[in-house]
Amino acid sequence: MFAAQTGEAVEYGRLLAPVDGFAAAVDAFRAEGGGGLNVTLPFKPEAFAYARRHTPRAAAAGAVNTLAFDGNDVLGDNTDGPGLVADIERRIGLPLAGARLLLLGAGGAARGVVLPLLEAGVARLAIANRTAATAIALREELALRLGPAHAARLSAGGLDCAEAGFDLVVNATAAGLSDAAPAMPAVAWRGPRLALDMVYGARPTAFMRAALEAGCPRVEDGLGMLVGQAAESFALWRGVRPEAAPVLAALRARLAAAA
Ligand code: ATR
Repeated sequence: MFAAQTGEAVEYGRLLAPVDGFAAAVDAFRAEGGGGLNVTLPFKPEAFAYARRHTPRAAAAGAVNTLAFDGNDVLGDNTDGPGLVADIERRIGLPLAGARLLLLGAGGAARGVVLPLLEAGVARLAIANRTAATAIALREELALRLGPAHAARLSAGGLDCAEAGFDLVVNATAAGLSDAAPAMPAVAWRGPRLALDMVYGARPTAFMRAALEAGCPRVEDGLGMLVGQAAESFALWRGVRPEAAPVLAALRARLAAAA
């Protein structure tokens, strides 16, 4: 859809790589003249290892969702964060500068978005995870890598450390994959104007339903972030920035029709 919109001649398809054969699958794709790849779970850390160079946001995330090939050069980027930032600020219309953000989860999905959220100017970013130690370790790792100015706005703990006073909550846990919502204390729902789940589907996710029940005025799923990260990847490969909105509308209609 982006190619049709921008008039770029792009052939885009799907490759299924064996779980133990990521690098070989990418080598074969490049040998056939492949110019770039979107990479999804579980291969984002392997795509990071495959890249010879990384953008700062990919280096901070330690995970790559976009590869761009140019001869022997392999650039690894992570566009999940900019996709999320663009969706929140441009489509949803909530400015991140000065916002207090509660990020649920400390796995790959969470680590991918921390630096872009900090760079967007959030006043505070709290990582709350079911296993507190994982969130604390992620914070320590990121604090070392990102330096004191970023680290000062970053905190971490268990889900029970989520208190009142956040402006928005982003769910980056895998709980939604089993139609569950992370067990967040009720008090943390006092304040947030937006609850965004990185998971998406035809119907509201368990996290979105929990947010609505708790009185959160606006809930969103992760389809906008998906289209946003794809738009960033397209811009990296082609040097042209496509419009996310019509593609999001088309995908939303497709999801609804399939439900
Ligand atoms: P991803 O790459 O999608 O982030 P992951 O690295 O396996 O996947 O991380 C999954 C995240 O979802 C973790 O933060 C996990 O919490 P734990 O560190 O405690 O395992 C979180 N998670 C998964 N199921 C959950 C549930 N039912 N409730 C709350 N958090 C959950």
